[in-house]
Amino acid sequence: MFETRVLSGMRPTGSLHLGHYHGVLKNWIRLQAEYPCLYFVADWHALTTDYEKPGDLQQSCWDMVTDWLAAGVDPHQTTLFVQSQVPEHAELHLLLSMMTPLGWLERVPTYKDQQAKLADKDLSTYGFLGYPLLQSADILIYRAKYVPVGEDQVPHVEFTREVARRFNHLYGREPGYEEKAKAAVKKMGTKKARLLNELRTGFLERGETEALSRAQALLEEQQNLSRGDRERLYGWLEGGGKKILAEPEALLTEASRMIGLDGEKMSKSYGNTISLREEPEAVAKKIRAMPTDPARVKRTDPGNPEKCPVWTLHQIYSDEERKAWVRKGCTTAGIGCLECKQPVIQAIQEELAPMRERAQVYLDDPTLVKNIVADGCDKAKKLATETMRDVREAIGLAYT
Ligand code: TRP
Ligand code: SF4
Repeated sequence: MFETRVLSGMRPTGSLHLGHYHGVLKNWIRLQAEYPCLYFVADWHALTTDYEKPGDLQQSCWDMVTDWLAAGVDPHQTTLFVQSQVPEHAELHLLLSMMTPLGWLERVPTYKDQQAKLADKDLSTYGFLGYPLLQSADILIYRAKYVPVGEDQVPHVEFTREVARRFNHLYGREPGYEEKAKAAVKKMGTKKARLLNELRTGFLERGETEALSRAQALLEEQQNLSRGDRERLYGWLEGGGKKILAEPEALLTEASRMIGLDGEKMSKSYGNTISLREEPEAVAKKIRAMPTDPARVKRTDPGNPEKCPVWTLHQIYSDEERKAWVRKGCTTAGIGCLECKQPVIQAIQEELAPMRERAQVYLDDPTLVKNIVADGCDKAKKLATETMRDVREAIGLAYT
């Protein structure tokens, strides 16, 4: 019923590193060719944990968006925007908060985890507890179908599905719903109406999911239905009320954990990163200094790639042939570690060269980035406004 939209957000962390690229951005870039995508800077989310010291949110935002663009996010294909510049997110968050059981929020796995992990911050706040719901509002306000995220965020998308279902259940049953649905079916013409009724019965009484997909396809191709009727009928097919909000699905990023220079997860707070704007010499220097299998003390000591962080980089950057070269050379002490690192250095330098070039264009003229984001905010606002109109109407806040 709704356009297949993709939505994802990132907290404004400033300039990005290879971990972001291989973990998230590559996926974003792949998706932009397939679907309309919306990617946003989650600046309010940053405040849920960093309200005491927000830092320079705006600068972090511009730096991060510059890196999105440098990495290949295409502003002609995607909508890039900043959460706080589309305050409709906050309105939806508020309305959803009225109907979200506290227990649902307390049970989100990241809640207790993060509180324990970030023990130096006081996170017994209203905003922190509610942050998964803010994320739900971010997703639902665009009726996004797919949400590309890392593994840690999957529970938030699941939670969002429950919130959408609850909302539709509570507010999708307008007075006279059945009659309105039936009247809408009639508008499809006798033949199609009969077919739709049969398919619906097939699904509701005999659980034929095939019938449901066929019925949905029938609605999809029906031109003369109003938006309201369409929402009604999609819900009616499944025996429920109007589908005002769409249930999203998480799209897991594969290979989401990029290893850092020390073998730990690559992360700014560990100081083990290679940034997307890293100079070629700095890349070489950092990789050359990386620890390897501790058993290889001397050049003549054989090693085991499984015990070496450089090997995980070969997994990303090397083809089968080169990986075989590493395995053999390492275990037989046929190659030295510096020799082994050289192709990785080169691959990273080649990967980053076009990014640095693109970033330079935006760094030379920062208004480019600001204009892209301003356009994106306008577009996002339009979509958000449409959903909010339906949401207000469903709850009874339309005041027309
Ligand atoms: N919570 C996400 C994070 O911390 C960022 C985020 C906010 C997000 N809203 C979103 C991701 C909506 C996907 C969809 O990384
Ligand atoms: Fe690691 Fe390569 Fe050295 Fe083996 S040869 S320990 S895989 S850097």
